[in-house]
Amino acid sequence: MIITSPIINFAHRGASRECPENTMAAFRRAVELGATGIETDVQMTRDGRLVLIHDERLERTTNGKGWVKDQTWEELAGLDAGSWFKGGAYAGERIPLLEDLLELALGSRLVLNIELKNGRCFYPGMEQKVIAAVRACGLGSWTVISSFNHYSLALCRTLAPEIGTGILYSEGLYRPWAYAASLGAGALHAEYRTALPELVREAAACGVVFHPWTVNEPAEMSALIESGVAGIITDEPGMLSALLERR
Ligand code: G3P
Ligand code: CA
Repeated sequence: MIITSPIINFAHRGASRECPENTMAAFRRAVELGATGIETDVQMTRDGRLVLIHDERLERTTNGKGWVKDQTWEELAGLDAGSWFKGGAYAGERIPLLEDLLELALGSRLVLNIELKNGRCFYPGMEQKVIAAVRACGLGSWTVISSFNHYSLALCRTLAPEIGTGILYSEGLYRPWAYAASLGAGALHAEYRTALPELVREAAACGVVFHPWTVNEPAEMSALIESGVAGIITDEPGMLSALLERR
């Protein structure tokens, strides 16, 4: 993966404190706030389209009902994914397709952190479709595919050795850099409290970088930067951008 700046500022679900998560409004606002990367969540529709939405179900962030996997893209395309947020100020925002974000990434030179949400719903063929979409835009070296489903990441490495992968985990891992290396992954996407400075240093010495999540306080951001992480996943890309500029 190309490193565009010393530390990648990954906006978590876009600028998700200001805008409804995983919408084009949130992604565009993240760019305005100085994000150099976008983290997003991918699910798959019944007819095999890749859509950006965190939950497997529609209720929390849209006016739809049911499982994403049971609906066609045509059924999802008309849903409102913005009205739930901040009293309706973003009414009319839609669920984006992965290709919509890829287009923005191309134009704005963003690093993409595409999380495959295939831990509860398994979405056969999702890995191949994500890889094909990324390759079609020539964004392979600008992308890291992450997932809590580590078997899926190993499959991605086999299918697309040129695309980086990031091991997502929320509890501590024993020798996480060795685990990452065993799966061919170049990055550890650790819950930030498990990204201890000695682990970050040991991993870097083995060529494995940390992209901890979800870091929203300046003191925590500073401590992680000090320890040598390669990127930070945050709901507050503006805060991180300001902090990085002051360094
Ligand atoms: O990328 C880290 C983070 O997004 C994983 O948790 O639930 O926010 O997708 P979640
Ligand atoms: Ca995510």
